[in-house]
Amino acid sequence: MPSADSPQQLDLTAATSAGMYNHYLSGKDTTAADRTAADAVMAAAGGWQTQAIAVENFKFAGRAARYGVHHLRIRQALDIGVGRLHGIPHQTVEQRIREAMPDAVVLGCDNDAVVLAGARGLRQPDYDAVFKGDARDPEQIFAHPELTTRFDLTQPVLIVLAAVLHFIPDDHDPAAILRRMRELVAPGSGLVLSHACCTGIPARVVAEITERYRATGGSFTFRSLSDIEQVLTDAGWSLLAPLDDVQSWAPPGETYDGYTGGPIASLRCVGTVAVSRPTPVCSGSGARP
Ligand SMILES: C[S@@+](CC[C@H](N)C(=O)[O-])C[C@H]1O[C@@H](n2cnc3c(N)ncnc32)[C@H](O)[C@@H]1O
Repeated sequence: MPSADSPQQLDLTAATSAGMYNHYLSGKDTTAADRTAADAVMAAAGGWQTQAIAVENFKFAGRAARYGVHHLRIRQALDIGVGRLHGIPHQTVEQRIREAMPDAVVLGCDNDAVVLAGARGLRQPDYDAVFKGDARDPEQIFAHPELTTRFDLTQPVLIVLAAVLHFIPDDHDPAAILRRMRELVAPGSGLVLSHACCTGIPARVVAEITERYRATGGSFTFRSLSDIEQVLTDAGWSLLAPLDDVQSWAPPGETYDGYTGGPIASLRCVGTVAVSRPTPVCSGSGARP
């Protein structure tokens, strides 16, 4: 009998954000619909730049998650929006967390049935469990039995929300979602966030990419650097380091020189690590405007 998480019906004719991202990463885990839609985005933004941003976001997510659990001494992590990432030649979030904190409990969730099936088959036991969860519904995620039986919610949790929030439009109130997540975890919890950013990006590219995702039946919302920071701080998360482009983000006092490609001018994704405590550790963004 199928569980509540079991896919009831899979539509492989529609492009998905997970499949498109896999194509940007030169993965093989895609449908024809994913490739067509992703190629259209790459045509709008410049193919290599889209691919570079995707790879750098992937690497940022692992790097920032590793820093988050290590710096905050957190032993339980929840990766929301796990992606179709098996076989991509970089360490995943769950692998980077285990490297930093071998005894950590690491859970993943996603709202895409194909992603869930792949992650369960190919990314466990690096994830202790993977379950169906929608970032728009934090209550459901934090009440899920796969989570409540494994996490001690009196202790801090690292939440990883990498390249997910831009799929949530303003009418779902991203700040309210991040606030609710903060309320559901113990003080001292961490948040790794990355997000597509329109500051400094040609308006034509922003409009075309937004439209390409809309044509797949999904949605994509670029937000400005100041809006992303505002969403985080309105929700009560204090930035541990300024928001910065994923290809250059580093923990405070460090530099990151892992990106060796050319300047990326037509697409932007920014990220950081934040902590749930009332007093801001760092106010104002140090990122380029
Ligand atoms: C672009 S991929 C990012 C994968 C990974 N987090 C990373 O940054 O490398 C976005 C993932 O988020 C998932 N996703 C999109 N909207 C979601 C939502 N509302 N709730 C949960 N997962 C979501 C997609 O199915 C996909 O697996």
